Amino acid sequence: MISPNSIEQLLNAVVVEDVVGDYVNLKRSGSRYKGVCPFHDEKTPSFVVSPTMGIYKCFGCQKGGNSIQFLMDIDNLSYPEAARTLAKRYGIELIETGGGQDDSEFREKQKIRESLQAALDYAAGYFEKQLQETEEGKTKAMPYFKERGYTAETIRKWRLGYSPEAWEAFTQKAHLDGYKTEYLEQAGLIKKRDNGSYYDLYRNRVIFPLIGVSGKMIGFAGRKMSSTDPAPKYVNSPETELYKKSDFLYGIFQAKNAIKKTDKVYLTEGYTDVITLHQAGIENAVASSGTALTPNQIKLIRRFSQNVTVVYDGDKAGIKASLRGIDLLLSDDLNVRVVPLPDGEDPDSYCTRLGAEGFASYLEQNEQNFILFKAKLLLQECGDDPIKKSEAVRDILQSVACIGDSLKRNAMNRELARVCETDESLLAAELGKLLRNKNLKDEQQVINGVKKATAAAGVQLPKEPLSDVYVERALFRLLLLHGDAQWDEMVTVGEFIMKEIREDEELLFSDEVCAMLASQIKFGTLEKWPGATYFVQHQDSGIASWAAGELSSGYELSSAFADNFIFVKTDGDNYKNELIAVFRYLRRKKLDNLIRHYTNLLKHPEADVEEVLEYLNYLNELKSVLAKDIGGVVFSV
Ligand code: UTP
Ligand code: MN
Repeated sequence: MISPNSIEQLLNAVVVEDVVGDYVNLKRSGSRYKGVCPFHDEKTPSFVVSPTMGIYKCFGCQKGGNSIQFLMDIDNLSYPEAARTLAKRYGIELIETGGGQDDSEFREKQKIRESLQAALDYAAGYFEKQLQETEEGKTKAMPYFKERGYTAETIRKWRLGYSPEAWEAFTQKAHLDGYKTEYLEQAGLIKKRDNGSYYDLYRNRVIFPLIGVSGKMIGFAGRKMSSTDPAPKYVNSPETELYKKSDFLYGIFQAKNAIKKTDKVYLTEGYTDVITLHQAGIENAVASSGTALTPNQIKLIRRFSQNVTVVYDGDKAGIKASLRGIDLLLSDDLNVRVVPLPDGEDPDSYCTRLGAEGFASYLEQNEQNFILFKAKLLLQECGDDPIKKSEAVRDILQSVACIGDSLKRNAMNRELARVCETDESLLAAELGKLLRNKNLKDEQQVINGVKKATAAAGVQLPKEPLSDVYVERALFRLLLLHGDAQWDEMVTVGEFIMKEIREDEELLFSDEVCAMLASQIKFGTLEKWPGATYFVQHQDSGIASWAAGELSSGYELSSAFADNFIFVKTDGDNYKNELIAVFRYLRRKKLDNLIRHYTNLLKHPEADVEEVLEYLNYLNELKSVLAKDIGGVVFSV
């Protein structure tokens, strides 16, 4: 355990806006700072940091706490781990008393992690020394870097190195210096032969160290020096405890301040692109390391800026292949722009050719909106063929459909109509269709994802859907018939229901029409209550006939439904009570399911029994509150 006194001392020393500022682009706003919350997706900043209180708080997702909590949340650290990280940074010595039980497993893991870290730090120093101080490095590797135009300063900044042409040079030296085989192997530095002996992973290659967002050495990439060498161009670090390829962006540590300052990031493909751009003074550049972008890489980018300019290699095939990956950026509501490069050039080569100033102004002058770029690219290839052209337009609309913000989406649609020389309303109708399909797919993906994750954890999900079709239909009937009525002084029934559906992740709907309506509300095609006629005229015939049916039938609550909720009367003006009853029913169902879920979880061997029991108690308490409290509709679990 860390003594409470040293925690207090630590929290007094810590500057919360610096700790958070490493991850979030904060802007001063009065006595506080504001930024886009790193814990949930949002467009307008609702994340606030208060220097005087030493805390952060998100008014969107409700996450909040002190600097220790922040590190726990953002880097998935345990409490002691986060405290130790901060203590190191602020040079404070933590007093730790004889550890609690729960701490021991963590310490064991931490020990391994520290050992891997030590091995990687050692290796980085070793490779640098091989480059800077050995004859072999100075005559073979240094000329290679010089040939690429790297200055001595650049070579130091990126901690570039060299691994000699030998099978066991590093393995033996590391052993001599006391590094254990198991850690060297787990750090991805050495490999085992069939006969049990070990050899170096990187041989006869120049070394690009991979440095994580917080400045730690996490792996290496070794590039061959000769283009005639048939070996692969790069040997990359394997996935380890510390290096996950899909979470990593090359250069992010060195670039993050510049990204925050310019509020923009240049996204390239290769290590060498990043280094050359930085050397040319363009220090807000990172690389995705060749492969398609991953969601975690995008999250990492988002922490620092929402403006991404993609500068990929200038061959047609490469550009077309990368178009899909870029759609991912759009769906995260980033502003995506592209700078096309001439055929055969990459940012590295073209920057070297044009020089620092020339390249900087090339970037500025050639930057264009990604979707319009894609549109021009695809349309160019169609010529006058109307079939090809309509295929291309549909493809482009797929990208537009990825934009989450409806204002931006509509503006883009207008612009596209101009570029494609098509009628705007035609495009809008087509876009509407795409969005609906996409939302249904997204929702299904979410459901599948949840199923997979729970299956992997050995947890069984409740078999039946979260609510009965009858109640689901009742909810949407209320929306349809009373959407315009006031729920309270502030909001209408429509707004109230839509907000609940949007914010309550566990409200899933099994009825087809209800699920479709819910997904339109959840995923943004329905942002405001559009009025009942919207549904009657809906292009989906299922929804249209449902709406027409409800509106024309005049409705009554079934007795089965009323049995459950004695206070529900069956006259048409009683929509408030009915709405309360519907939500109460859905929430009770949800509670029952959660209780069943966590009861099952208890059987899982790795479950934290104490914690689960505590949560179960809480759920049961909620249930009894729910049973008593007539007006208590609005709470979530
Ligand atoms: P490139 O082939 O464009 O390499 O691959 P590069 O880094 O620009 O190198 P130069 O300029 O030709 O010397 C782009 C990125 O793809 C990954 C690397 O991250 C590389 O930086 N890559 C490429 C590999 O991981 N392995 C490979 O064999 C090739
Ligand atoms: Mn390249």
